Amino acid sequence: MNGFHPDPQEGARIKQGDAAHVFHSWSAQAHIDPLPIAAGEGVWFWDYNGNRYLDFASQLVNLNIGHQHPKLVAAMQDQIGQLATLAPPFAARARTEAAGLIAELAPGDLNRVFFTNAGAEANENALRMARLHTGRHKVLAAYRSYHGATGGAIAATGDSRRWASEPAVPGVVHYWGPYLYRSPFFAATADEECERALRHLRATINAEGPTEIAAIILEPVVGTNGILVPPPGYLAGVRALCDEYGIVFVADEVMAGFGRCGEWFAVDHWNITPDLITFAKGSTSGYVPLGGVIISERIARSFDQRPYPGGLTYSGHVLACATAAASIGIFREEGIVSNARRLGEDVIGPALADLAERHPSIGEVRGLGVFWAIELVRDRASREPLNSEHMQDCIHACHQHGLWPLPEENRIHLVPPCVTTQQEVDTAMAILDTALAVADQGCTGN
Ligand SMILES: Cc1ncc(COP(=O)(O)O)c(C=O)c1O
Repeated sequence: MNGFHPDPQEGARIKQGDAAHVFHSWSAQAHIDPLPIAAGEGVWFWDYNGNRYLDFASQLVNLNIGHQHPKLVAAMQDQIGQLATLAPPFAARARTEAAGLIAELAPGDLNRVFFTNAGAEANENALRMARLHTGRHKVLAAYRSYHGATGGAIAATGDSRRWASEPAVPGVVHYWGPYLYRSPFFAATADEECERALRHLRATINAEGPTEIAAIILEPVVGTNGILVPPPGYLAGVRALCDEYGIVFVADEVMAGFGRCGEWFAVDHWNITPDLITFAKGSTSGYVPLGGVIISERIARSFDQRPYPGGLTYSGHVLACATAAASIGIFREEGIVSNARRLGEDVIGPALADLAERHPSIGEVRGLGVFWAIELVRDRASREPLNSEHMQDCIHACHQHGLWPLPEENRIHLVPPCVTTQQEVDTAMAILDTALAVADQGCTGN
């Protein structure tokens, strides 16, 4: 990469300063060893020793446009030069443009955008809107979900990250969504899983009181909890249940949205229109934080005459909005969403299926677009998860060969930027092939 020279001493200085003063998320501070990173370009990033890595984690599944896209960087520089900040009560060109473009992309009558700083706040506000719109309090959320780390969002979260924040905000009830590979419903086919998951959801609604439930919040394709693509008919079934009981359907597209699933929004795969969509990560590719709620006209009208009781100093920050608007323009110009779709269908999917044939540690591969998981097992028949030592060794082998995937429990999530080329996927798959030989050693019989 141009203008970058390895500087191990600078890397060591940064690491020392980090250990002394930076308090990291989700970590036992004495047990982490953060790698200092010097530079990034496209799908690659570099450490200070000059090692380069293919970013198949897209940082935290947000770098949809890749590192340092020159047009996006230039648009941000332009906005800073013109007007670096503006309070929410004013009308601003960047904000108007971003909201207009997002409304244009969103399905159905989702026409208004409330901007937040990130995903958790987007979900907080979506649930607040749903409660005020319906006059009801309860929220149904999936066990296999993550919705953010603030009070309401962590209460809605179903996975173990919620536990330390309990007792949490009351009113959230968790249910099981579909996951055929480890079916909570003992289903053997996708149809069975879909039908039983919907029956379970209906039963949960009835047990909690349909007139008490404001919202069902779900990730249309579940992200950190396994990249779970719903069976055909599931989201349509949820939509129908919401319609039947007057429940607001909140699609959390913080991770799945903005091209990651090979569509602008994951729900577009199934032609579903939720009542609220929350977004964040890919909207600016993390170049500057942004999130938001895309609101249906019906719900927006609830706040025509009464004030919406929520706000943020940086709601609709002009730099973030200019970044989102420019990013959407670049995605369109460069066909980035269709690139993600094509990669999923023609390149990543077939390559992972091929690896699955050759590596006994692969229990299942699943995904779409640039949103994939490999589930690693000790034994294909029992589906017992691969143990953590072999997982760690496998990830270490990836790093050593220049691939940076996202490990989650017994899974490797492969979530590269939407701009990744076929050649970069080929390089990643060759490295993965080598690293999976390490995982195979953890299989029973080896
Ligand atoms: C589906 C989903 N929702 C919400 C969030 C929270 O977003 P943020 O970390 O930007 O607050 C995340 C973060 O990973 C997410 O994956």
